[in-house]
Amino acid sequence: MEKRVYNFSPGPATLPLKVLEEAQRDLLALPGLGVSALEISHRCPWFDKVLEETEANLRELLKIPANFKVLFLQGGSRLQFSMVPMNLLQEGKAAEYVVTGSWSKMALDEAKKFGTAKATYDAKATNYDRLPTAGDLKVDEGASYAYFTSNETIQGVQFLDEPKTGSLPLVCDASSDFLCRPLPMDRYGLIYSCAQKNSGPAGVTTVIIRDDLLGRSTDKLPTMMNYALYAKEKSLLNTPPVFSIYIMMLVTRWLKNDIGGLDKMLAHNKKKAAQLYDVIDASGGFYTGHAQKADRSLMNVTFKLPDDEKQKAFLKGAESRGLHYLPGHRSVGGIRASIYNAMPIEGVQLLADWMKEFQKGA
Ligand SMILES: Cc1ncc(COP(=O)(O)O)c(C=O)c1O
Repeated sequence: MEKRVYNFSPGPATLPLKVLEEAQRDLLALPGLGVSALEISHRCPWFDKVLEETEANLRELLKIPANFKVLFLQGGSRLQFSMVPMNLLQEGKAAEYVVTGSWSKMALDEAKKFGTAKATYDAKATNYDRLPTAGDLKVDEGASYAYFTSNETIQGVQFLDEPKTGSLPLVCDASSDFLCRPLPMDRYGLIYSCAQKNSGPAGVTTVIIRDDLLGRSTDKLPTMMNYALYAKEKSLLNTPPVFSIYIMMLVTRWLKNDIGGLDKMLAHNKKKAAQLYDVIDASGGFYTGHAQKADRSLMNVTFKLPDDEKQKAFLKGAESRGLHYLPGHRSVGGIRASIYNAMPIEGVQLLADWMKEFQKGA
């Protein structure tokens, strides 16, 4: 086998080795079935069990109450930028968007195509380096819903507490921090996440929606855009991404059995992130973080070096140490170390060591 590198990509991102090994072992023939998970019908007892276990694992990990449905969709998170307003925006009512970075801005722009959607907060003036404070949010209590992005993957700012948006149904794009911590599910109306960062490979998007909100999906919606129909057909409206859901089952099993649940995952994630932020903070300004300290992401650590030349040398040295896919997004520049759930602590330690060594030699 080729040697694996530490993959700091923002997504598709690194998966737990154990999951890859199991998928590899069963790739040619699932035990007792003689076909692979890439070839099997979605209408068979094996896949019924896969769907059942994946949902049960998610329900256990996140303590999802019975009055929520768990749906598995395709189209990635960007399809949700359209599906959320198509299904939830009510006649004559607006939607309130908390704009903290590129992804929430894109979601707001998409929602405007379907009705009135406005930014109840927008951190553009400070290049999306922060989250709103309690006093910044003044939502219209008569709106259809409030929307936020729990982790802005590009800028590296993350909510570790839900924004205070009163009694409005709270909708969350959790694409890049889903399953990184326990969630107070009673605060949410809908939460969605593409899989390719923390829960599996690209191809499946999980949507967790409170039952009462399904009543807003009208028959006029295109069939494949209608949450209520997915709920009615238990995500089998058409052929679902069988293999992606199978991998999600293995990832959620790993979270339960090997990690020991989301409290443990959160503690682990905090430890990993601190390794990098501590180096940034102790560097005397050599490394500068993009996000304000209080709002830093546990998933995407964004920072800059003093100039482009140093940055190039830093990235070259990182690759020679097996630390890959670290360049930041073009809109922010610098470095972005994506350290999702499955990034081993050893990889983060190696990166922290390299940061210290590089500064010394610079
Ligand atoms: C926070 C967030 N939202 C949405 C998306 C878009 O996801 P997809 O490519 O599945 O449409 C991404 C992708 O990186 C993301 O990080």
